[in-house]
Amino acid sequence: MDVKHAIEKRRAYRSLEHIEITEDLIKDLAQSAQLFCSCFNNQPWRYVFVYDPEVLKKMYDTLSQGNEWAQSASLIIAVFSKPELDCIIKDRKYYLFDTGMATAALILRATELGLVAHPIAGYSPKKVKEILNIPIEREVITLIIIGKHSEEINPLLSEKQIEAERKRPERLSFDKFVYMNSCKGNIE
Ligand SMILES: Cc1cc2nc3c(=O)[nH]c(=O)nc-3n(C[C@H](O)[C@H](O)[C@H](O)COP(=O)(O)O)c2cc1C
Repeated sequence: MDVKHAIEKRRAYRSLEHIEITEDLIKDLAQSAQLFCSCFNNQPWRYVFVYDPEVLKKMYDTLSQGNEWAQSASLIIAVFSKPELDCIIKDRKYYLFDTGMATAALILRATELGLVAHPIAGYSPKKVKEILNIPIEREVITLIIIGKHSEEINPLLSEKQIEAERKRPERLSFDKFVYMNSCKGNIE
């Protein structure tokens, strides 16, 4: 699969089937992040791969209302970092940017492997840190919910979520986010 195809194929589906999680899969996903660029090669990203059924069960309790669908995860990747792990240039802190880029590479690789890799922000970072022994001063940036897309709609989904399973949510048109040479006059 070429990159363009993976970008187009990637979707944040919420109806998931179980898949077997192997050490090879985890290494493959981790390597996609490992090779990404970062400011001064600081590599600020950190990942906890959660696939032990007992720990996965504990993670359900961290999910916010509306994210019950994520209980079908075969693997949850907790993505964390802290500002000091990356460049801080005046008021520009690069840890979120670099961790986001590396995580996008991991998500695209998962897509190429035929998996759903759905990032979420709806969880309790405090509970996640407690369960996974992540030091308190680190920021849990996202949880990536991994599984295989199921054609059968998850009964826990709301109407809006069901609609998003069927049709990719609308995107901004180019004129709302692409500027040629200058953004004078039309910036939103
Ligand atoms: C940082 C981030 C946080 C998100 N949080 C949630 C979430 O808590 N629950 C959820 O169901 N989807 C969440 N999503 C998924 C988005 O809703 C989804 O990517 C968006 O609607 C576009 O759909 P698509 O990815 O299928 O194109 C999140 C995505 C990102 C990147």
